[in-house]
Amino acid sequence: MKTYYKDNKDAIRAHLDRPIVLIGLMGAGKSRIGRMLAEALDLPFCDSDDEVEKAAGMSIPDIFECYGESAFRDGEKKVIRRLIEDGIQVIATGGGAIMSSETAALIKDRALSVWIRADIPVILERTARTDKRPLLRVDNPEAVLRALAEKRYPVYAKADITVDSGNGEAEDVLNRALKGLADYLSRAEAERSKDEH
Ligand code: S3P
Repeated sequence: MKTYYKDNKDAIRAHLDRPIVLIGLMGAGKSRIGRMLAEALDLPFCDSDDEVEKAAGMSIPDIFECYGESAFRDGEKKVIRRLIEDGIQVIATGGGAIMSSETAALIKDRALSVWIRADIPVILERTARTDKRPLLRVDNPEAVLRALAEKRYPVYAKADITVDSGNGEAEDVLNRALKGLADYLSRAEAERSKDEH
């Protein structure tokens, strides 16, 4: 592991008292970066989509098809509450999860949020590789993604930390995330000790 990883890891682990929650559009890289982040920080990793599927005993496309999107959203809300209550870990959320005001408030109060931001062309290319996202099973997925971005970006933008996840190396994205987290937590700690004196 590179040394600058280690410095940031130590700074993060010294002050982290909440789970880290990754938010952002489908295909931005939340699960991939989340897994790497958890490994770099020696923390457990959880993916809310996987947990919803486990709880329902069926795939997300099947949940949408059999019960509709609102049933999926109900399950997603419950799963994320449970994952946040489970303690310090890295949680990748489905792209629409934070659009629930209840989930958004929970994340704001009880977690550290990281927006994994990627450009639409990059997302389009990545999401075209699989058929697992019911919202993109349409003739014009680009139009859907652009509409979702317009609605969701103002909400994602409230995250504690924003990390750009371009087409480059995942390791670089990981490093930017570690640096963003270390800086954020050091600043928060400095504010806290200033208030105490
Ligand atoms: C969704 C994103 C998906 C999954 C579901 C709905 C969304 O998760 O939760 O298909 O509304 O953006 P990923 O963001 O992990 O692809």
